[in-house]
Amino acid sequence: MTRWSHVAGADSGEGYDARLAALARTGKGMHGEADFLVGLIRPPARVLDAGCGTGRVGIELRRRGYDVLGVDVEASMLAVARRRDPDISWLRRDLSELDPDEPELISGFDVVLLAGNVIPLLSEGTQAEVVRRLAGCLAAEGLLVAGFGLDVDHLPLDDVTVTLDDYDRWCLNAGLVLCDRFATWERTPYDIPSAYAVSVHTTGSAGQCAAG
Ligand SMILES: C[S@@+](CC[C@H](N)C(=O)[O-])C[C@H]1O[C@@H](n2cnc3c(N)ncnc32)[C@H](O)[C@@H]1O
Repeated sequence: MTRWSHVAGADSGEGYDARLAALARTGKGMHGEADFLVGLIRPPARVLDAGCGTGRVGIELRRRGYDVLGVDVEASMLAVARRRDPDISWLRRDLSELDPDEPELISGFDVVLLAGNVIPLLSEGTQAEVVRRLAGCLAAEGLLVAGFGLDVDHLPLDDVTVTLDDYDRWCLNAGLVLCDRFATWERTPYDIPSAYAVSVHTTGSAGQCAAG
């Protein structure tokens, strides 16, 4: 059982989709991650939407011209994603067992995106392995982009399960270098203490992001 199925239930897909739809009706912008990616790399870059859920981000990225593959372990989340966009490939995989050499993944992605607190929702003890496997899915100068809460008000959990130091260490051990960090998907400068962080790590050099 994943932390997500523990907090959201085994039938999380329809409920999550309904909550997002209700939020969208309030006028809240739902595509901060897609806007962020547009500022980082142009379509038709290849994007692996890791922990894609119901496809909230991946479907919008495809609409904007990106080449998207979604991966998630929860069948009910993927069922909604498949219904909403049957033309995207949605793979059911546990990220801690993802094989970068499998046919759908082997050509390498320009971006691996972890949106919506995927990292803190990973099972304890698997996070370093997940980061290592996702790094293996990146092309040369590929980017690992992850956004997650740093306090309980910004997590769907009762505890903070991951610190930025943990995450940076897992990335470093996977051969990735931090090249940018923000406090929001809208690129608010990252300042300590921040309640949220969007981190960009690369298989290339630290100057890669700054150079645009
Ligand atoms: C809060 S949802 C975010 C979904 C989507 N990225 C979004 O932003 O709307 C977190 C997702 O991470 C997925 N997840 C958690 N642990 C996972 C794992 N080990 N392998 C694959 N997916 C996982 C959950 O199934 C869930 O769909």
